[in-house]
Amino acid sequence: MAEKKAFVTGHPIAHSRSPKIHGHWLAKYGIDGSYQAIDVAPADFIAFLASLGENGFRGGNVTIPHKEAAFAGVARRDHAADEIGAVNTLWLEDGVLWGGNTDGHGFAANLDDYAPGWAANGPAVVLGAGGASRAVIHALKERGVRDIRIVNRTLARAQELSDRFGAGVSAHGADATGELLADAGLLINTTALGMHGNEGLSADPAGLADHAVVTDIVYVPLETPLLAAASARGLKTVDGLGMLLHQAVPGFERWFGRRPEVTPELRRMIVADIEAL
Ligand code: ATR
Repeated sequence: MAEKKAFVTGHPIAHSRSPKIHGHWLAKYGIDGSYQAIDVAPADFIAFLASLGENGFRGGNVTIPHKEAAFAGVARRDHAADEIGAVNTLWLEDGVLWGGNTDGHGFAANLDDYAPGWAANGPAVVLGAGGASRAVIHALKERGVRDIRIVNRTLARAQELSDRFGAGVSAHGADATGELLADAGLLINTTALGMHGNEGLSADPAGLADHAVVTDIVYVPLETPLLAAASARGLKTVDGLGMLLHQAVPGFERWFGRRPEVTPELRRMIVADIEAL
């Protein structure tokens, strides 16, 4: 049988860690497959989608800035993609191009690993109202979190998301953060604040209750200022790297026919890559 081929596309794409993750699994499971990074400019993206089958691809991942174009450009979408409004995983099924979104799965599976039982912890405060926030809110709803509080610098964007996701999802400006944290069980940063080169604290975890869990979807650095402040306060923290690793699982399974494992070995490999920066 021909080599199984998959890809990740973005613009730029050179810094993507996805080839390392999928390459690790391909080698580990001895699969005759490849996974390559392909830089596609926005103007060429729809043509790229149309050419996947003839280029022998089974599918691939889509990242910034193509997730919304992929959402619009596929023939069919899974439920998560529809809920989130973006596509990060593509696959061909009987010649039909499907788009899915595995970011919410990655988010939830990471918390399952490091903070089992997290979904029953109480109200969740979500910092940020962009694309990453939509994936997180979707996952929280799927797991039955009934009180989801979106906090955003621009209130109107938080309001859009609360309208989109409906009952149990409320919108707030940044000035309300302290009050919203007081009885929260989960604090999630989805903004770029705290990312390498974008220093700053998106919220002060000091006011959270002792049982609260704090997580950040930013994973460079692994310990963001928010996680450091939460640890100093004695709270349970979960870094964002596991979300990246787990979001890759469903795609790999579709293209290569085997559900891969997120192991300490894989994590160590990507941590080494991050620390080499
Ligand atoms: P992504 O797809 O990664 O979520 P995005 O759609 O650009 O990216 O959203 C970025 C989020 O980070 C937004 O919630 C943004 O707040 P605004 O909607 O007010 O722009 C938030 N964000 C980015 N920089 C920020 C900053 N310096 N302070 C507070 N929030 C910030």
